[in-house]
Amino acid sequence: MNHQLVIVLDFGGQYNQLIARRVRECGVYCEVKPYTTSVAEIKALAPIGIIFTGGPGSVYDLKAPQADPELFRLGVPILGICYGCQLLAHNLGGRVTAAQENTAREYGKTETFFDPDCKLFRGLPPQSVTWMSHGDYMEKVPEGFSLVAHSDACPNVAICDESRGFYGVQFHPEVNHTENGFGMIRNFLYKVCGAKGDWTMGDYKAAAIRQIREKVGSGKVLLALSGGVDSSVAAALLAEAVGNQLTCVFVDHGLMRLNEGDEVEQAFAKWDIHFVRANAEALFLSKLAGVTEPERKRKIIGEEFIRVFEAEAKKIGKVDYLVQGTIYPDVIESGLGDAAVIKSHHNVGGLPDYVDFKEIIEPLRLLFKDEVRQLGRELGLPKYLVMRQPFPGPGLAIRIIGEITKEKLDTLRLADFIFRDEIAKAHLEGTMNQYFAVLTNMRSVGVMGDGRTYDYTLALRSVTTTDFMTADWTRIPYEVLDRVSVRIVNEVPNINRIVYDITSKPPATIEWE
Ligand code: XMP
Repeated sequence: MNHQLVIVLDFGGQYNQLIARRVRECGVYCEVKPYTTSVAEIKALAPIGIIFTGGPGSVYDLKAPQADPELFRLGVPILGICYGCQLLAHNLGGRVTAAQENTAREYGKTETFFDPDCKLFRGLPPQSVTWMSHGDYMEKVPEGFSLVAHSDACPNVAICDESRGFYGVQFHPEVNHTENGFGMIRNFLYKVCGAKGDWTMGDYKAAAIRQIREKVGSGKVLLALSGGVDSSVAAALLAEAVGNQLTCVFVDHGLMRLNEGDEVEQAFAKWDIHFVRANAEALFLSKLAGVTEPERKRKIIGEEFIRVFEAEAKKIGKVDYLVQGTIYPDVIESGLGDAAVIKSHHNVGGLPDYVDFKEIIEPLRLLFKDEVRQLGRELGLPKYLVMRQPFPGPGLAIRIIGEITKEKLDTLRLADFIFRDEIAKAHLEGTMNQYFAVLTNMRSVGVMGDGRTYDYTLALRSVTTTDFMTADWTRIPYEVLDRVSVRIVNEVPNINRIVYDITSKPPATIEWE
């Protein structure tokens, strides 16, 4: 099926995929293309609209990415964002200059005033906050353009020439800080470009399956399944695309939450794939015996994980493709450079060195987390898997302070299950991003019935965050905490005291180890 297409022309801005994601959210298919894409190629794709992204440069810098002037003669509506707006002005006869310090140069949240007659702002409030990040500004607006937004510091925040369908905004409508940014993008698509909203995640799924089949042919594919959302959705997509050419190796290290291993296995039972569940609980427990130091636990688990995976992969022989569930935020984060190592995160990223394969496939590379969840639902994965909160690779091992034993794992599993169960019953999942129990190695005196107890203290942790880099502790209602506490002390042996962790990150981290 052919869809209407919007092209996001990438001039090097940091939010280019976020723009693409907003367009997809509006039900319109879009592709991000480099600014060097030829006009002939763009024309052949027959887009209904083009969006110029932001970029790091100044339009007068000779090395800065430039727009081909032919683009303005295609008869296709254009929305220029930030640098893209300046390109528009520069190419169509306006003048862009470096803003003077403290005058029109703007960074951050800015109160902005809009002309509601402009199609871009129609139906939206005439005044709202936008997110600015520009050093240059349009000193002279091009012929035929009107000024349609301003702020206190800058008279030229947005311009348009509605007869040609050209719009430019100095701020970033794609980021959440711009209050009505989504509405503006929507207006551009629907009111300017004539979008019909003919694209769904189902179409994305169909296209992804087609592309995977073309690429893989009759080749063999291997995937390390962790049971997390990303690797599960990648596995389901590959299962749907190439069926029994796929082998999923699920390393069950015995450090998962209650019933999790079985749930993962069940979720994949409906596909005709090779599903290998390596039951390595005993091996992991023996390697972890007596280990109390958090980084050491992580190292052992990371190493053993690779070893078990490698052993299983060897049984399959040479594979052609290795699948990884990398998603777009991983791509951005890995580009950030040498951030200080606070904890050595273990995930499957380190595998390629150990397995003999031709190429890596990363089918989720351009998707954001909630899009991955949507795709997972589209592929028929169960809700409990698709909506799963983040769970660290080393599992419950880093939620048991001190030595790990099977008994402690079972204690923690049950307590953690009760906590999650009560949160679900109170319909509070949407108010928190990660919530779990931690078994401390502290014991204290209690009284139960007529007897003295001397048992472990369990900590409950719940955080609210958008990026997991910083987080606030969740204000869980007291009555819910009370129910959780009463149930855990009554139903879980070896625990006689419950505490709630009320530290944010920083200074604490989300996990306790
Ligand atoms: P921290 O504890 O560093 O956690 O504030 C931030 C987020 O990362 C998760 N986390 C991990 N994820 N392997 C992972 O795949 C790990 O070793 C690991 N350690 C922490 C943590 O659950 C939280 O979502």
